[in-house]
Amino acid sequence: MSKPVNDPVINDSRVVAGEFDSNGSGSGGDGGEVSLRPQALDEFIGQDTLCDNLRIFIKAARDRGEALDHVLLHGPPGLGKTTLAQIVARETGTGFRPTSGPVIAKAGDLAALLTNLQLHDILFIDEIHRLNPAIEEILYPAMEDFQLNLIIGEGPAARSVRIDLPPFTLIGATTRSGLIATPLRERFGIPLRVTFYEVAELKEIVLRGGNILNMELVEDGAEEIARRSRGTPRVAARLLRRVRDFAAVAETAHIDASVADKALKRLEVDESGLDSMDRRYLRCIAEHHGGGPVGVEAMAAALSEQRDVIEDVIEPYLIQQGFIRRTPRGRSLSDLAFHHLGLTPPPGLNKDQLNLGMDKGKA
Ligand SMILES: Nc1ncnc2c1ncn2[C@@H]1O[C@H](COP(=O)(O)OP(=O)(O)O)[C@@H](O)[C@H]1O
Ligand SMILES: [Mg+2]
Repeated sequence: MSKPVNDPVINDSRVVAGEFDSNGSGSGGDGGEVSLRPQALDEFIGQDTLCDNLRIFIKAARDRGEALDHVLLHGPPGLGKTTLAQIVARETGTGFRPTSGPVIAKAGDLAALLTNLQLHDILFIDEIHRLNPAIEEILYPAMEDFQLNLIIGEGPAARSVRIDLPPFTLIGATTRSGLIATPLRERFGIPLRVTFYEVAELKEIVLRGGNILNMELVEDGAEEIARRSRGTPRVAARLLRRVRDFAAVAETAHIDASVADKALKRLEVDESGLDSMDRRYLRCIAEHHGGGPVGVEAMAAALSEQRDVIEDVIEPYLIQQGFIRRTPRGRSLSDLAFHHLGLTPPPGLNKDQLNLGMDKGKA
């Protein structure tokens, strides 16, 4: 049950070379020696409304002496879902029991986790949309009534037992709340959506990281890294570390915009923060599919990537930035994407897409 999570879906650890390395996990950090993970809500930068709400719910639960209601965190990878779950445990002063949907293979696995919970503990299930539906059903009475119903034995000798559980908080994290069965989704009293970060917020995150890593990082250097981080703190943290490596090798202690730019160019991160995988994706639609629309399966085959990776990791940022649009018939490129690739959009292709910028966030 404790096998390591090794999963490309939650693993957006590519920085740059279009590779998804395979050592990441939902609870993993940013892959380095010194952790840049914020430890408290007050250290957590961005997601202001979400954090304000959490603060209120935590305080209310605490004042009543109850477990916090179940929380569902959803949004693209690397935006702080695992971090927030850990922070909630710390702020409520309770135990943190992390696991992940694909790791829970049998009903017994989940039963073992549940029966080992202490009063008000946080059970964190990463990638909860990948929980096996039969196992999911065990969660319903556990979440609602803090009860575990188990069938023991088989055939005529089978009997069902009911075990009372201590009140606990389930925190689920998912990149796709749409894939969660409605009865499960409805049992979360606190659904929270994490969104891509603003450059100013990422800049603050990068400056904080530079400080922790003892770097001589000036404002415009931090800003350059922030602008090119795909709206994602995990990417920002990785780029920051790679810029640090680059500066160390180049024997420049002082990191400004020009040093950052050189390092990021070398990492094939372009001015818009797109990496080589993003560009391959855009190029594929532009050059092989006339700008689209093209179905996700065809894209997955052309790029030799899993469909999940394309939908969860690559596309959300490209959509948010107005490079592509998801339509019922497939993905289409915007003029912006053609220009970004240095190509001329085919005439008439994007007639209905002139206002793409206004479609940001829709998918
Ligand atoms: N608001 C934030 N401020 C600073 N760093 C952050 C923030 N959110 C995330 N991070 C960094 O990004 C990394 C990825 O966050 P994580 O919680 O693992 O994302 P998710 O679980 O959504 O994929 C963390 O290790 C942390 O260093
Ligand atoms: Mg995570």
